[in-house]
Amino acid sequence: MLLDVDNIVTLYGKSLILDRVSLEVDNGEVVSLLGRNGAGKTTTIKTIMGLTPPKSGSIRFLDTQISSKSPFEIAALGIGYAPEDRRIFPDLTTQENLLLAAHLHKRERKDWTVDRIYDLFPVLSHLRNRPGGLLSGGEQKMLAIGRALMTNPILLLVDEPSEGLAPLVVRVLSEAIGDIRDSGVTVFLADQNVRFCKKTANRAYIIEKGRIKYQGGIEEIWQNQEIVKRYLAV
Ligand SMILES: Nc1ncnc2c1ncn2[C@@H]1O[C@H](COP(=O)(O)OP(=O)(O)O)[C@@H](O)[C@H]1O
Ligand SMILES: [Mg+2]
Repeated sequence: MLLDVDNIVTLYGKSLILDRVSLEVDNGEVVSLLGRNGAGKTTTIKTIMGLTPPKSGSIRFLDTQISSKSPFEIAALGIGYAPEDRRIFPDLTTQENLLLAAHLHKRERKDWTVDRIYDLFPVLSHLRNRPGGLLSGGEQKMLAIGRALMTNPILLLVDEPSEGLAPLVVRVLSEAIGDIRDSGVTVFLADQNVRFCKKTANRAYIIEKGRIKYQGGIEEIWQNQEIVKRYLAV
């Protein structure tokens, strides 16, 4: 097991946001966390990443307990993070955004280079000298994923890759996630869109009001009209 999240409870102030969330991600999988707006997807990812540490519960990554480690330590262990709000440096170019990420995370493995990111997202290679702040929403999503890959992660966390994007860009992203998996990086992605997740993930967890309500194969979830209607957006 690569990632083993066990019974985590996360609060914002006094509000209970994650209520005993447990999930597992195995090496080589693409696993998605599905749920509507406000269900707790971003908080789950931020909790794994150490940005909103859990009040209780355990998070093991490669047999290391990470639930009380800092985001920087967690990144250094091999977890990459592409946030929902992208956090691109607006005044740095596309290429500078990528190089900065690599510079800040001096890991032994140097699998991902700017050229490999440009192979994955050819549109970014044409925008390499454009300031990040002038990229479109979809281009910034690609850059945020590229930047996370530049840290050579073992596990990549991607928050809302398909949100607000045109169908063509959604297709580019779902194909890229397949390529990332094929390159040996395990992916955990949070998204509202089951149709998008069906293209990329093998398994999914469904979260609502901070609780995991269902887990199963993505095809099985897709076929289950009741579950889709009750918990998901299509
Ligand atoms: N910084 C915050 N302070 C207080 N409540 C928050 C904060 N961020 C999110 N929440 C609440 O936590 C719940 C889960 O939010 P979130 O994890 O962002 O859901 P999702 O990513 O599934 O849309 C929501 O009810 C949201 O209003
Ligand atoms: Mg979110």
